[in-house]
Amino acid sequence: MSVKILAIESSCDETSASVLADGKILSNFIANQTIHEQYGGVVPELASRAHQENIVPVVDQALKVAGVRKEELNAIAFTQAPGLIGSLLVGSCFAKSMALALDVPLIAVHHMQAHVLANFIGEDKPSFPFLCLTVSGGHTQIVRCDSPLQMKVIGETLDDAAGEAFDKSAKLLGLPYPGGPLIDKYAREGNPDRFKFPEPQIPGLNFSFSGLKTSILYFLQEQQQKDPQFAENNMADICASIQHRIVSILMNKLVKASKETGIKEIGIAGGVSANSGLRNALQQYGEKYGWKTYIPKFEYCTDNAAMIAMTAWYKYQAGEFVGLDAVPGARAGFEH
Ligand code: KG4
Ligand code: ZN
Repeated sequence: MSVKILAIESSCDETSASVLADGKILSNFIANQTIHEQYGGVVPELASRAHQENIVPVVDQALKVAGVRKEELNAIAFTQAPGLIGSLLVGSCFAKSMALALDVPLIAVHHMQAHVLANFIGEDKPSFPFLCLTVSGGHTQIVRCDSPLQMKVIGETLDDAAGEAFDKSAKLLGLPYPGGPLIDKYAREGNPDRFKFPEPQIPGLNFSFSGLKTSILYFLQEQQQKDPQFAENNMADICASIQHRIVSILMNKLVKASKETGIKEIGIAGGVSANSGLRNALQQYGEKYGWKTYIPKFEYCTDNAAMIAMTAWYKYQAGEFVGLDAVPGARAGFEH
């Protein structure tokens, strides 16, 4: 008999459900919330309400596409932390109710651990030890993994996350939220060497992006005094130059981490790993330094329930279940 798990992800503004059977993803359904665009960022209360509206149809769709009836499920998994507390509550309450009604075990998953394990969906899985650069809207981490459930954060951002650096830069350029994908789009047509933004000198494996944001702000103010249409007229080159700097900050620390640990199995994960500049850079650095590189499929980079299901599969095999009293947490860590 195969083990079938339903996983639910609701940490931020994506409502997602996925069904997995014996480590294989059968479905991964994601409902995006477009309501936040007009506010320039995710509004927590609106996110919770949208999750409440979406959760039943999303779970229903994931089961249908997988061809699995709820009575066949062996466990229910949910994102426990970190995230917006109201959003997490919708997913966790729904998962608990289903686990109780079906009388199957409940599995609590850490969102950042799941982003890393998105690299383990599919046939070509990394070997251990494995280094992962996880870059999302809320986090920027270099994670050392010694097994699927043994992970240690060895570097992280001291201020903004890489995704925030993209989104805040986009906002300064007058682009709508989330600006990361738009910077990526404009950057494809632009010259990355036209404008030079500084690389912060942060010791060790940690990152900082707040200085970059300030330098972009001053640069744009200065240029727009001379030409009020400066941003519009130079959008591609500005975006390419900003992306080039964010990617170089990330990659230089990843090279340092690989040298310090001697690990050459290297992957990226999280929403920002959808960025074409970062994906190309990982490939190029991989060739230069003899790394074996891993990038999750596009749909598994941004928030999705398939990565929650994959993590739940490892937890199921390890017998890591939780009770109905498991509480979601906005900021909990995940190290084992
Ligand atoms: O992992 P994710 O979907 O949600 C969080 O857990 O935060 O990451 C969202 C972040 C946003 O900041 C978004 O702008 C960024 O990922 N992002 C990108 C791209 N696609 C998503 N940033 C740069 N280039 C992209 N193509
Ligand atoms: Zn995420």
